[in-house]
This record gives sequence, structure tokens and C-alpha cells, in this order.
Amino acid sequence: MAPAPAGRDAVTARRRTTRIRRIAITTGGGDAPGLNAVIRSVVMTARQYGWECVGIRDSYDGLLEPMRGGGLVPLTPERVQGITRLGGTILGTTNAGNPFSYPVRRRDGSVVLRDRSAELLRAFRRERIDALVAIGGDGSLSIADGLARKGLRVVGVPKTIDNDLAQTVITFGFDTAVSFATECIERLHTTAASHRRVIVVEVMGRYAGWIALNSGVSADAHAILIPEIPYDVRKVAAALRAREAAGQYYSIVVVAEGARPRGGERAVLERRAAGGERLGGIGERLAKELAPLTGKETRHVVLGHLLRGGSPTTFDRLISLRFGAAAVRALAEGRSGVMVALDPPTVRYVPLARVARRIRRVPLNSDTVRTARGLGICFGD
Ligand code: F6P
Repeated sequence: MAPAPAGRDAVTARRRTTRIRRIAITTGGGDAPGLNAVIRSVVMTARQYGWECVGIRDSYDGLLEPMRGGGLVPLTPERVQGITRLGGTILGTTNAGNPFSYPVRRRDGSVVLRDRSAELLRAFRRERIDALVAIGGDGSLSIADGLARKGLRVVGVPKTIDNDLAQTVITFGFDTAVSFATECIERLHTTAASHRRVIVVEVMGRYAGWIALNSGVSADAHAILIPEIPYDVRKVAAALRAREAAGQYYSIVVVAEGARPRGGERAVLERRAAGGERLGGIGERLAKELAPLTGKETRHVVLGHLLRGGSPTTFDRLISLRFGAAAVRALAEGRSGVMVALDPPTVRYVPLARVARRIRRVPLNSDTVRTARGLGICFGD
């Protein structure tokens, strides 16, 4: 990542006045429902200013590795017609293409990380791209911050099903993920009740418990385990046994992939060469531990990438379209180094420097946590 220069917010405050003719859009990190809606909104709004739009394939690979099926995609109004409702991203994405630490495979098979940011900036100039709309989560927006510091005109748009970005009330993609998780948990109630089983449902969310909390509360889960509240499995088991004693012969436990037992470790599937870790497996671990402690037949379900797929909800479509249009207005106003953020009832701009390399977790005294406790939901604490 680019070194943080003195005067962090100087980039943000700077107004860029050079005329814009051509802008690029990139989608980075894990996909999320609403990406295509943002792309469409950027393209259609940019047209009002007479700007041409191109999409960069696979995050920045379209510029760094154009021969590997990448390159730039001309984004005309015709090309983006009808894509608001489409899941995924028409541009492709990767979470292994950070230009500041780009993984390069050597002849002996080993991987080294190289800073290719200067090369990337040259590619932007070569392609006559005057500004960038970077759509992504904390990783992608940290990259956008680094590029802004190096002089590229950039506006970020907050994307992630995890809802863990700082400085915005919500990210697009989250509502779709929570809605689908809620539906899945509801379906599990009936089968769990019929078989008098415990079912543990693992949901994504990385190091934040937003998806688990919001879907678990909405779908009447009996226990919700989130990274922000390390759990004691004996307390979870005690809550399930108490339900049994009260004549409730089944239970649903929702666990965030990043949850961990008090004094214990998270379940990590893989440590990535490019940095970061892939989480997963806590649901299975928990089910195995709960079975002997409760004496109940226990199953686990991992919702995983199902939460990233599908058509965006109405909420996500609208917020994505609003974010895309606001990103273009920001560029037209001469802003750079900022992210569009939801601050109901409006959108505002926040410095990328205040978003980069941070995550927003569930506050322990949040209204939703307190509501859950009021409903008798166990957090294992
Ligand atoms: O950030 C979105 C997310 O879906 C996380 O919830 C999850 O931990 C991660 O991406 C999974 O990424 P990948 O698909 O690369 O394994």
C-alpha cells in the first residue's frame, strides 16, 4: 500500500479542475448484488456531462494484464441497459489484484508481491482516463485511497455484503444478503422443528456480525454468535437446554463466519498469498461441540456464497443507483479522494483516508443487539 503522506486529508480537500472527458469504472473484491446498478447509474449520469465511460476488467487486471483476457470494456448506454437487476458484475472482479502488492508467480512456482502502482498510473494516462470510480469494500477502497494519494482523480463507492465499511450507514449488497439469509433461516425452522433438531447456520461477514445479527433477529433465531461477542459454548448449550425444558424441542443457532469462542481462535480455511485469510468452518465445529452438550441431533448449514448471488433487493437497487449518480456528481464538482456515503436521508462524501484500512463492527450496545437480548436471544456471553 502507498505510504501515508503528511496531511492525510489534503487529497480530499483538493479540487481537481482539469476537464474530464473519459472516466473508468472498476469493481474490486468479492462481488455483491447492486454492482451492475452502480455501473449503469455511473454510465447514464456521466453521459449527462458528455463523458465517455470504460470499464476495467477484473478490478485493475484489465490495465495491468490486458493480454490475459482483460482490457477495457466500452460502457455505452446500450451496454448497460437492463443490468440494474443483475447480480454479480459485468466487469468481473478479483481480490488478488492489489496493484500495491500484486502477486507475481516466479518460474519456481513461488509467489512474490510487487508494487505495480506506478505502472498502473501510466496505463491510466496511456488510455487517456481522466478519473476513476472505484466500487469496492475496504480492500478496494484502500487501493483507491493509495491511487488518489499518487495523483489519480478517484471517487469510491461502498460495496460489500458484510456492511463493515467505516463512515457509511450502509453498504450496497448487505440488504440482499440479509434478506436471503433471513429466508433461509426461516426455512430451517420448519425442518428443525419437525425433526426436533438443532441447526447451526453459518453466514458470511468476515470480522463483523452484521449479517448474522440482522438475519438472526429477523428470522427469530434462538442464539446468534458474532465476532464482536466471543462466546462460551457451554452458555449456548445451556440456552438450548432451557428451551428443551420449556417444551421447545428444536433450536436455530446463527453463527457469523468470524465468530470465535472466548479465549479461542476463529475458524480459518486458508491464509492467502496476497494477504488476508479465508474464514469458514465455525458452523461445523460448533455443531460438533453442541451435540454432546445438548444431547440433541445437530446439523449445520453453510450459506456461504449464496449470500453474494441473486438479484439485488429494491433497497439495494435504489441505493446503488443513488451511489453511482452521486459518484459522478462528486467528480463533476471537482472532488477526489472521497467515498460516497449514505447519511440518511441524503448521501455525502467522506475522505477515503477515513475509510481505508478500517472496519466497522457491530456496537455492543446497538439497538439491534439490545432488541435481540430483549427477545431472549442468546449471544453465548
Ligand atoms: O467480503 C465479502 C465476503 O463474501 C466475506 O463475507 C467473505 O469472508 C469473503 O468475501 C469470501 O471471499 P472469497 O469468495 O474470496 O472466498
